[in-house]
Amino acid sequence: MYNEIDLDKVDLSLEPPSEEPMRQYYFIKKARKIVEEESKRLGRRLTADGETFGCQMNAKDSEKLIGILENIGFEMIDDESADLVFYNTCTVRDNANQRVYGRLGLVHSMKKKNPHKKIALCGCMMQEQTVIEKIQKSYSFVDLIFGTHNIYKFAELLVAMYSSDRMVIDIWKDTDKIVEDLPAQRKYSFKSGVNIMYGCNNFCSYCIVPYVRGRERSRNSKDIIREIEKLVADGVIEVMLLGQNVNSYGKNLDEPMHFAELLQEVEKIEGLERIRFMTSHPKDLSDELIQVMKHSKKICRHLHLPLQAGSTRILTAMNRRYTKEQYLELAHKIRREIPDISITTDIIVGFPGETAEDVNETIEVVKEVQYDNAFTFIYSKRTGTPAASMPNPITDEEIKENFDRLLKVVQETARKRVGRLAGQIHSALVEEINEHDNTLVSGRLSNNTIVHFPGDASLIGTIVNVKLVEAHGFYYIGEQV
Ligand code: SAH
Ligand code: SF4
Ligand code: F3S
Repeated sequence: MYNEIDLDKVDLSLEPPSEEPMRQYYFIKKARKIVEEESKRLGRRLTADGETFGCQMNAKDSEKLIGILENIGFEMIDDESADLVFYNTCTVRDNANQRVYGRLGLVHSMKKKNPHKKIALCGCMMQEQTVIEKIQKSYSFVDLIFGTHNIYKFAELLVAMYSSDRMVIDIWKDTDKIVEDLPAQRKYSFKSGVNIMYGCNNFCSYCIVPYVRGRERSRNSKDIIREIEKLVADGVIEVMLLGQNVNSYGKNLDEPMHFAELLQEVEKIEGLERIRFMTSHPKDLSDELIQVMKHSKKICRHLHLPLQAGSTRILTAMNRRYTKEQYLELAHKIRREIPDISITTDIIVGFPGETAEDVNETIEVVKEVQYDNAFTFIYSKRTGTPAASMPNPITDEEIKENFDRLLKVVQETARKRVGRLAGQIHSALVEEINEHDNTLVSGRLSNNTIVHFPGDASLIGTIVNVKLVEAHGFYYIGEQV
């Protein structure tokens, strides 16, 4: 899915061009040669595996990296025994980091048996200096490290890696560059994520994302539309517009544009059936957006609206820039205007100084908004963020108690909300064969609820009407009508 450039015209006897993306095509061709030679030596195709640890934006980056690997001639497999493994890391909470270190231990023993194996690390964790130091010291078998701002250079970095017997490290602090038109793989043929912006400027006091993803940069709307048009021509019927705070889309463009306007442009694309987006920051969610959603035939009836905390005192300390009352007013307005919408959220428990009373306020909000689903996280201290130096007198036991109390309410509310559609007929986009029962397929309703129903692979990628026969907690068992 890119403007195919004729690699035959790339002349490797010349110096690499300085212009992007041409420079990367030069290195793709160069890397192909290396891979061909290595394959000849081994008498088989070289394999590669990509492991993703983070959010949808990370997953999208992995598709770009895999696209480059496939173009270079690697056979992609889903197994860490591959000749090249990349780990696309996340550092939003410490457990994400720990998982990566665990996997590195495992892959090290594989590398000892297979010395030509290459290991690459990239993604958000790599933007932290302390992580790089730790890897240099304790995981010196890693071959390549790069960050979030230079993934488009993957081919060039691979050539550097294959030409060096030392660890290659290339980390940029930030960038204002957006390099496009490189190959990208797509995990699904019928749906795709589309970046509309990169980075984040919000600096919520607990969050590391602005430090590892850099300043907010919106893509030009014409490039976004062009990309979606190509995807649709390729068979995609659902897109997910991706950004850390999509509601502030377009602010830094030469010709500023609001997110609601972008959505209206995307809606016009013929052949596109469904539009989703993630994530919305409550402070920037405009009335125009609500109206555009209300009147749209394509925008899905789902809004992910992270609350983080229900107590205004904690929200202020979190630098979220809304109060409990403002959030509730917004949620009510959305429910009033779009009654069939499902609202989901993220909540953090255990932010420094958060008491049981504060969590009671969060529980009140959950009960009042009636979320269709809520992702609850225990606060994880991130070095370098303002919250990391805030005193926290609350014990781990208290945090755990608060967390369990909240989770109970979240689950009760979600079960009730999700179950309200029982007996109705809704359209579902069939995504895959059911993981546990291959006589069933799994589809997604506009409001993001999953329904499993009898069907076969021929339905994958189509939108069908399904009767929601029985609610099972967070999903339905249904039948096609
Ligand atoms: N841009 C999105 C969130 C991206 S991170 C937004 O603003 O909503 C996804 C979620 O991880 C956040 O919504 C938050 O709930 C959680 N999170 C972020 N930093 C965290 C931390 N330090 N500890 C625990 N959870 C965190
Ligand atoms: Fe993190 Fe806040 Fe930006 Fe979301 S909006 S990525 S929580 S700083
Ligand atoms: Fe994680 Fe980076 Fe996403 S820190 S949540 S992968 S932006």
